[in-house]
Amino acid sequence: MLHTLRKVLKVMGAVLTVSVSVSAAGPHASIPARAPAPAANPITPAKIELGKKLYFDPRLSVDGTVSCNSCHNLMSGGEDNLPVSVGVRGQKGGRSAPTVWNAAFMSVQFWDGRAASLEDQAKGPLTNPIEMGMKDHAAVIKVVSEIPEYNDEFAAAFSGEKNPVNIDNLAKAIATFERTLVTPNSRFDQYLGGNEGALTPVERHGYELVQSVGCVSCHSGVNFSGPTLPEGTGFYQKFPTYETNSYVKQYRLKDDVGRFAVTKNLSDRHKWRVPTWRNIALTAPYFHNGSVTSLDEAVRVMAKTQLDRDLREEEVAAIVVFMRSLTGEFPKIDLPRLPATPGFSVSTKAVGVGAKKRL
Ligand code: HEC
Ligand code: HEC
Repeated sequence: MLHTLRKVLKVMGAVLTVSVSVSAAGPHASIPARAPAPAANPITPAKIELGKKLYFDPRLSVDGTVSCNSCHNLMSGGEDNLPVSVGVRGQKGGRSAPTVWNAAFMSVQFWDGRAASLEDQAKGPLTNPIEMGMKDHAAVIKVVSEIPEYNDEFAAAFSGEKNPVNIDNLAKAIATFERTLVTPNSRFDQYLGGNEGALTPVERHGYELVQSVGCVSCHSGVNFSGPTLPEGTGFYQKFPTYETNSYVKQYRLKDDVGRFAVTKNLSDRHKWRVPTWRNIALTAPYFHNGSVTSLDEAVRVMAKTQLDRDLREEEVAAIVVFMRSLTGEFPKIDLPRLPATPGFSVSTKAVGVGAKKRL
C-alpha cells in the first residue's frame, strides 16, 4: 500500500518536474520539417506538383488575372502586405490575407475559423465574387478539364479514380502543396533545440517577457497560435477583450463581428482564431482588418486590448526583437511551368501579381 503510494508520489513528482521544466522553456515547440496530412489525403510528389501549378494558375479566376499567389505571394511572406486584398476587377475584400506559410499547422483556417481544413479552405476563393470570381465550381472544373496536361496530371495524382478532374481533387492537390509550405529552423527553433546562443540576450529577454506578461496564455504551441487541437477545432479568443482604450476606435477593432457571423451565437461576437507569430516580421500590416502597420504598434495594441497593460517602450522593443527571431528558413520556390491552353503559347509571366492576360 505504502509502496504504491510512494510510487504514485514519485510519478507525480516526475510529472511536476517535467511540467516545470516545460514552462521554463516556454509552452512552445519547434516547427517540424513536414506538416501532417489527413489520412484521406496523403502527400505524394504528383499531388504536390499538380497543386503547385494550380496554386500559381490565374486561369482559375473569372478573367484570368488572379491566382492564389496574387494574394499569398510565396516569393515573400505568403501574403500581399496590403491591409485588405485585391481580387478580380480590382475589388477589395474586408479582411487582410493571412500567410499560407505554416498554415498547415493551424487546426482551422481563416481569421474566423470557418474552414475546417486546407481542403475546405481551397474551394472558397475560387468562387468568392471579389477574389477569383468564378460562377461556380463546375466552371472551374470546365477550365481545368480543357487543358490536356492537367487531365494527365490529375489522372496520375489520383490514379484509379474514374473522373479524377473534380473540385475535391483540385482542393486536395492545392492543400497537399500547401502542406509543403513550412519554414523550419528559425533562430528560435535552434534555441529550443538547445542552442542558447541562437538568441541574443535581448531576444531572450523578449521571450521571457511574452511569458511573464501573459501573451503566451493565448500564443502558445508550435505556431504560437494556441494548443495543438484536432483539425477542425479552433482556438478562439475575444478581441478586443478590454474595450475602453483608444486603440479600439482608432483601429476600428469592433467593426467586424468575427466568428459570430459564422455561428450566429452571441457568445462568438468578436471572437477570433488566435493567429500565428511565425514569420510575423514579414506579414505586416496586422490584425484581421490590416489596420496596424508596424509590429511594435501591434504589440502595444495587444498588450492593452488583451491584457490591459501599458508596456514600457523597452519592453515593446524586446518583444519585437524576439518576434523577429521567429522568421524561419523558406524553401526555394521555382515558378512552375504551367500547362498550355490549347491554341495558346505558354508563358509563366502571367502567374505573378498583377498578371493581366489569359494564358
Ligand atoms: C483576392 C485575394 C485572395 C485570393 C485570390 C486568395 N486568397 Fe486566400 N485569403 C485571402 C484573404 C483575405 C483571407 C482571409 C479571409 C478571412 O479570414 O475571412 C485568405 C485566407 C486564406 C487561407 C487561410 C490561412 C489562415 O491562416 O487562416 C488560406 C490557406 C488561403 N487563403 C489559401 C488560398 C488559396 C489556396 C487560394 C487559391 C485557390 C487563395 N487563398 C486565393 C485572400 C485571397
Ligand atoms: C486573450 C488572448 C490573447 C492574448 C493574451 C494575446 N493575444 Fe495576440 N492575438 C489574439 C487574437 C485573438 C488575435 C487576432 C486578432 C484579430 O482578429 O485581428 C491576436 C493577434 C496578434 C497579433 C497580430 C497577428 C497578425 O498576423 O496580424 C500580434 C502581433 C499579437 N497578437 C501579439 C501579441 C502579444 C505581443 C501579446 C502579449 C503582449 C498578445 N498578442 C497577447 C489573442 C491574444
